[in-house]
Amino acid sequence: MAKKLIVGNWKMNLDSHQSSLLIQKLDQRVTAGSVDVVLCPGFVDLYMVAKEVNGDKFSLGAQNCHWADEGAYTGETSPVVLKKLVDYVIIGHSERRQYFNEDDKMIAKKVQAALRHGLKPIICVGENLDDRHHNLSARVVTDQLTAALNMVDKDDIAKVTVAYEPVWAIGTGEFAKPDQVEPVVRAIRHTIEELYGKNDVRVLYGGSVDQHNAAAYLKLLGVDGLLVGGASIIADQFAAIIKSAQSL
Ligand code: PGA
Repeated sequence: MAKKLIVGNWKMNLDSHQSSLLIQKLDQRVTAGSVDVVLCPGFVDLYMVAKEVNGDKFSLGAQNCHWADEGAYTGETSPVVLKKLVDYVIIGHSERRQYFNEDDKMIAKKVQAALRHGLKPIICVGENLDDRHHNLSARVVTDQLTAALNMVDKDDIAKVTVAYEPVWAIGTGEFAKPDQVEPVVRAIRHTIEELYGKNDVRVLYGGSVDQHNAAAYLKLLGVDGLLVGGASIIADQFAAIIKSAQSL
């Protein structure tokens, strides 16, 4: 069974002081264990967090990256720069798709760029409420995934993580029921297997995960971990989520 992976996406929420405090508090509350934990601070604080964080307990990820190595891309961050600070990078988060018009092609290029530089992409996929009402969840999600993996070859697939995040469950407190998650995760696994054969890709669930519902998702067949937003910036809550993964 794959090692569980818990990812904290801090989004655009903390300043440097708050980020520093959060890693101190997490260090006090989390014991190193059988679970991989990845923290994804904002770009400005990545360097500081990379220097201060306890690397025995936590790895780092970025919340986004550009597809080019360098160039005239004002305000963007290159994977070449990121690879010195982080191991993982979140790509295609629904907030990037929604507010920054990231489309499947851009996401595929970012995934490829991340892999080219030895970063592990966490590819986010998820349907909106309208898709769900029309019974299109699995279809939409596997289409997004197939597009994102367009340039990924067999040798690299094990470095990929997929996060299933129903858009309607992100930051809304309206979490998906386990029986809504399981069939979509199954479809994700089926798609990857069709494309690459047997593989070690980890599939995460994300969307309003908290310390009360974390275990239920972690116990689902095919779910290897969680992508946590809001609850990841509250030390007690995130530590409790990690603990529930460790105690499975
Ligand atoms: P949430 O965010 O846990 O606040 O719903 C999850 C995410 O966007 O990754």
